[in-house]
Amino acid sequence: MSIKMNFQEEIKQGIPSVLPQAKAYPADANRAPKRKDILSADEKQLAVRNALRYFPKEWHQELATEFAQELKDFGRIYMYRFKPSYDLKARSVSDYPAKCEQAAAIMLMVDNNLDPAVAQHPEELITYGGNGAVFQNWAQYLLAMKYLSEMESDQTLHIYSGHPMGLFPSSKDAPRVVVTNGMMIPNYSKPDDWEKFNALGVTQYGQMTAGSFMYIGPQGIVHGTTITVMNAFRKVLNKGESSKGKIFLTAGLGGMSGAQPKAGNIANCITVCAEVNANAATKRHQQGWVDELIDNMDALIARVKEAQANEEVVSIAYIGNIVDVWESFYEKEIFIHLGSDQTSLHNPWSGGYYPVDISYEESNRLIREEPELFKVKVQDTLKRHADAVNKHTAKGTYFFDYGNAFLLEASRAGGDVMAENGIDFKYPSYVQDILGPMCFDYGFGPFRWVCASGKSEDLDKTDAIAARVLKKIMQESPEEIQQQMQDNITWIEDAKQNKLVVGSQARILYADAQGRMEIAKAFNDAINSGEIGPVVLGRDHHDVSGTDSPYRETSNIYDGSRFTADMAIHNVIGDSFRGATWVSIHNGGGVGWGEVTNGGFGMLLDGTDDAERRLKSMLLFDVNNGIARRSWARNEEANFAIKREMARTPKLKVTLANLVDDDILNNLSL
Ligand SMILES: NC(=O)c1ccc[n+]([C@@H]2O[C@H](COP(=O)([O-])OP(=O)(O)OC[C@H]3O[C@@H](n4cnc5c(N)ncnc54)[C@H](O)[C@@H]3O)[C@@H](O)[C@H]2O)c1
Repeated sequence: MSIKMNFQEEIKQGIPSVLPQAKAYPADANRAPKRKDILSADEKQLAVRNALRYFPKEWHQELATEFAQELKDFGRIYMYRFKPSYDLKARSVSDYPAKCEQAAAIMLMVDNNLDPAVAQHPEELITYGGNGAVFQNWAQYLLAMKYLSEMESDQTLHIYSGHPMGLFPSSKDAPRVVVTNGMMIPNYSKPDDWEKFNALGVTQYGQMTAGSFMYIGPQGIVHGTTITVMNAFRKVLNKGESSKGKIFLTAGLGGMSGAQPKAGNIANCITVCAEVNANAATKRHQQGWVDELIDNMDALIARVKEAQANEEVVSIAYIGNIVDVWESFYEKEIFIHLGSDQTSLHNPWSGGYYPVDISYEESNRLIREEPELFKVKVQDTLKRHADAVNKHTAKGTYFFDYGNAFLLEASRAGGDVMAENGIDFKYPSYVQDILGPMCFDYGFGPFRWVCASGKSEDLDKTDAIAARVLKKIMQESPEEIQQQMQDNITWIEDAKQNKLVVGSQARILYADAQGRMEIAKAFNDAINSGEIGPVVLGRDHHDVSGTDSPYRETSNIYDGSRFTADMAIHNVIGDSFRGATWVSIHNGGGVGWGEVTNGGFGMLLDGTDDAERRLKSMLLFDVNNGIARRSWARNEEANFAIKREMARTPKLKVTLANLVDDDILNNLSL
């Protein structure tokens, strides 16, 4: 028998006192893939034993059978019966049952990550990326929300990979929540370790903004992709030359890759984006993310030639394999200005990348029934893919890796992608050539905010405030960052008309330390004067300082330290004692488990002097920690940026690198 409660009562209850009815998954749900059956019989018993820890003894018999079945059917125990009955979506901060507003703001952000309009597999608590989890199971969600509803402003909730360990006494200046996701003893950080320990219920893959409650839907990725494509064109075109009628060829119309055609349109080019999954391509077309849909190579070639002749700005989805497009365009002598790839190569063996010359359905059968053969087919395709790209680049195409591990996996498959030194890749990553030197090294990164009132008028007001602040800063900005400032002003002025809000009232805006601090201060003033309600600040982990990832965020670090993770760890510790409302640090995210350490923060602005003190202290460190590290790695732009910051901030004293003449080193006998 279940007792009907309103949403606030249900949150305050946590694990229900009466066992809820078992329930079936909705027929139309976008379900997470069945996970690998990796546990031994003993380990399966341990997984069920672990799951039962959340519940009273009287329920164990019934739940043990059910959880064992879930493990068998899905490879994980999600405890679906305990999913709350209320709609999961970000409500106004004032709707949440909480003793402190900071806790209510975190609840809002948690619920947003599980909103079916936002999350990829909401029934399994997955926000994006196929495995980016908010919690491992529904019991963890219920407990965490209950703790947040009880929390006072001198307590901290510690969450271990989704498991709320408990509320601990702290102080009002401490973070309200500390999250870790997937932190492993380094030797236990191989992909199958995730499968095993996640199935046991003791760790999870938090991706970046999934397990840190900071996902804001597709607009985050549209902004970053637009900046990348626009700047890639600036690299290859002559000054003043237009990108109209020029081709950007890439692949993937999935969760994040679906942003590519929209970004291509904003960057004024012809985007051709291959997608093997007809459903994914059709969905993106219906949602207006891509203009045209073509499933035949001859038709694609004819359409592309026409678009070139007319210098059109258009995005075309090709339903088929990307390798066919690279090869056919070479044969038909179609010149590609920009080339990239955004298939899910962080997950190559379980459906992230589909082999050529095999149907989509047959590939899915191979994944399930002949995984070894599937692996060989993927490796063969990667080699062919690399060969086709090489033929185009020999003719002048600019190819870059967009952080999906294409070059890494192509090299592991034996593809011809290594540079002559045998250490580096032939092609740069987008961070090496574009985002690193043009943005991260100067401190520009994906700053974001959420209007916690839930009002779209508040978002409009914050857009206007941010534009005003940036324009003022730009008047005194040095030549080196004028372009970035202008791009970001254009972005924020057009943001509303780009209609990118899904879920919470959120906005992303690339900004540097000065921009982030001055915008945040202006928001806090507007909250104080009653112009807008409270605002949650945050950022993507894919930023200046938050992420150590040798083939992505830190791929433009050349002093050998790109395989270290000190920066990300210092960032999360440093943010936590400078005023973050919550902090998180993760293993995995974007490029794969064991391949990256990344962290982030959330901060509630409530219009108080305290909030002003915190934002100034924390945002300064949150950006400049990474600039200092990038400068120490001898990155020229970062050296410029950190010296500017030291001139502005007398208490900041950073160790600067002395540069050695090449001649001295070249004359050493080593
Ligand atoms: N650097 C960044 O900022 C950044 C941003 C977004 C995504 N990424 C990376 O890009 C990848 C894609 O992310 P996503 O969320 O879109 O993943 P996704 O799995 O939702 O989408 C990838 C799509 O590629 C398609 N695909 C796979 N193989 C193909 C092939 N051979 N030809 C044509 N289509 C093929 C799949 O059907 C799928 O729809 C991930 O590895 C992610 O980490 C990086």
